[in-house]
Amino acid sequence: MRLRERTPRSRALRPRAERLLALEAVPTFSLPVPLYVERADGAWITDVDGNRFLDLAMGFGALILGHRPPEVVDALRAQIDRGWHMIVPGEAQYELAQLIVEAVPCAEKVLFQNSGTEATMYGMRLARAYTGKLRVAVFGGAYHGTHDYALVQEDPLSPAREPGAKSIGRGIPDVVRDQAMLVLPYRDPAAFDLIRRHRDQLALVVVQPVQNTTPIEDNGAFLAGLRAVCSECGVLLMFDEVVSGFRLAYGGGQEYYGVTPDLATLGKIIGGGTAVGALCGRADIMELFARPGSAGVFAGGTFSGNPLTMVAGAATLRALSARRAEIYPRLERLGAQLAEAVQAHCERHDMAVTLMHVASIQCLHFRKGPIGSFRDTHPANRAAEAAFYALVLDRDVLVPGVHVYFLSTAHSERAIELAAAAFIQSLDDCRADGLL
Ligand SMILES: Cc1ncc(COP(=O)(O)O)c(C=O)c1O
Repeated sequence: MRLRERTPRSRALRPRAERLLALEAVPTFSLPVPLYVERADGAWITDVDGNRFLDLAMGFGALILGHRPPEVVDALRAQIDRGWHMIVPGEAQYELAQLIVEAVPCAEKVLFQNSGTEATMYGMRLARAYTGKLRVAVFGGAYHGTHDYALVQEDPLSPAREPGAKSIGRGIPDVVRDQAMLVLPYRDPAAFDLIRRHRDQLALVVVQPVQNTTPIEDNGAFLAGLRAVCSECGVLLMFDEVVSGFRLAYGGGQEYYGVTPDLATLGKIIGGGTAVGALCGRADIMELFARPGSAGVFAGGTFSGNPLTMVAGAATLRALSARRAEIYPRLERLGAQLAEAVQAHCERHDMAVTLMHVASIQCLHFRKGPIGSFRDTHPANRAAEAAFYALVLDRDVLVPGVHVYFLSTAHSERAIELAAAAFIQSLDDCRADGLL
């Protein structure tokens, strides 16, 4: 790799990171060479050796306006002059909540946290309290964060239409997997029968309108079916919109598909690139959160609703709202431009690669399609996949190792052309090496 020679300072920093940190970055983010970042602007990041990369990671989807958009920089600077951690609430929290309530169909009330993980955790706790039932259902292939309940996922070796559950990683009590959760098959009406069968124990069904690693467009009928069966069974429905909120459309997956859940989680974009999560939903459910002196559902968090996050989020949503008629169609068009260029090349040369995309969410799989759910992503050509991400980085395009990547308003037509050329040349190199 040429990059190895271009990154001496990054290489020198690696031993220190290994000595001091249990984990440098989330384990799903992997780069073929050590790379430490110095700064970021628009669609570009610069490493400590002065190399510039076109960023398609975009803060794992948080940076829909790109790095350091002027509106957010101004809002953060002004807030720093006024203080950033005062505990006594400020107006910015109401402003961001107001923007969310106006945009997101199910949102009558909002509770802020510091991560999407907290948002899904509170959603599950609230639904258990509201319904008096224990189990929470999630779908195969979903991702809802890092708390114990969220790390119960589909066992890929179990029957597809009635999946078993397994906990990801060690340290999670078996009782969480066995008694508190249920895994449903994604985009499969068999899920509706399972909900009916478990209705007496089921508090909540959590679904991503579009899953991160299998972004598929035609989910509308499935989501509408889910809405109907949850209402029929007295089970709450929560959309996990940590990624899709303000990305699929200004009103998120709920607006995009015209289906309104009881609760929704938000994160990423609503913090303008600062740490955030939020739970929102029907007022009669959200009102179960304990007020001072009452015995409701406990919520807390030293930094929840902190003014830096609130002003960065409000500045982002205001910018999106003002330019939404232009921003969302443009992101959709640029996404299609990149996807179609790569897909057409793969088809012309019969490469077993599938590029999935909805709006500005994209994901590559190194196998032939069609891919209807996460199960269909296995087995994949891991050797070609690893080589591809190294080659594409060598061409100065950064795609995170989780393979989900995002476009932002900072990506120009030219940037998309550069990304498409880097993808295509890297796929050709894989083919020349006999990997594809
Ligand atoms: C759909 C979804 N839900 C929840 C989370 C967890 O959010 P966080 O990483 O902010 O805890 C993520 C993170 O990527 C996500 O994609």
